[in-house]
Amino acid sequence: MLVRIKSTDMKTTTPTPQKVTIDYHDSALFDLFVTELKDVYWAEKYIVKNLPKMAEAATSEDLKELLNAHLDETQNQVERLEEIFQLIDKRAVGKRCDGMDGLIEESRTIIDKTEDGTLTRDVGLIASAQKIEHYEIATYGTLKTIAAVLDLDDQIIDLLTETLEEEKEVDQKLTQLAESHINEDAREEEN
Ligand SMILES: [Fe+2]
Ligand SMILES: [Fe+2]
Repeated sequence: MLVRIKSTDMKTTTPTPQKVTIDYHDSALFDLFVTELKDVYWAEKYIVKNLPKMAEAATSEDLKELLNAHLDETQNQVERLEEIFQLIDKRAVGKRCDGMDGLIEESRTIIDKTEDGTLTRDVGLIASAQKIEHYEIATYGTLKTIAAVLDLDDQIIDLLTETLEEEKEVDQKLTQLAESHINEDAREEEN
């Protein structure tokens, strides 16, 4: 026998599924997120301290400009991280980042081992700056993925995305600059 179901009955028999939100703030992965955040917070502040030295040591005006422009961006990135700390209700404290410490040390070695006023130095500085950017791209990419998987506030994901895009953009600009003339001009310099 065919039973007719009225549309009003349908509503009571098939309730709309509710989105269940789970709070992941007690998870080990959230702890890892906070640790990574502290690591990159320290790293960004260390970059703010050291990028001016790289810009000052650069030979070409366009590299100086690019590094100085990224210094301004980096200062904003520090503020974005502070906003994220606030959004997750944690104090903004940095944790020494050995990776960034080493990369900045490498940039000092480049400056020491190359002649003032040469484009060979700029090739070295570009390589050094790109290693820094790649480290940051990996970190922000990871943070964004963890934030999404933990279902954190969309605002957090937006802030991480903004910074990630800036890091990718400066990496591309560094490549363009090297390829536009610096690499080839440096080739003519004697040892
Ligand atoms: Fe950065
Ligand atoms: Fe950067």
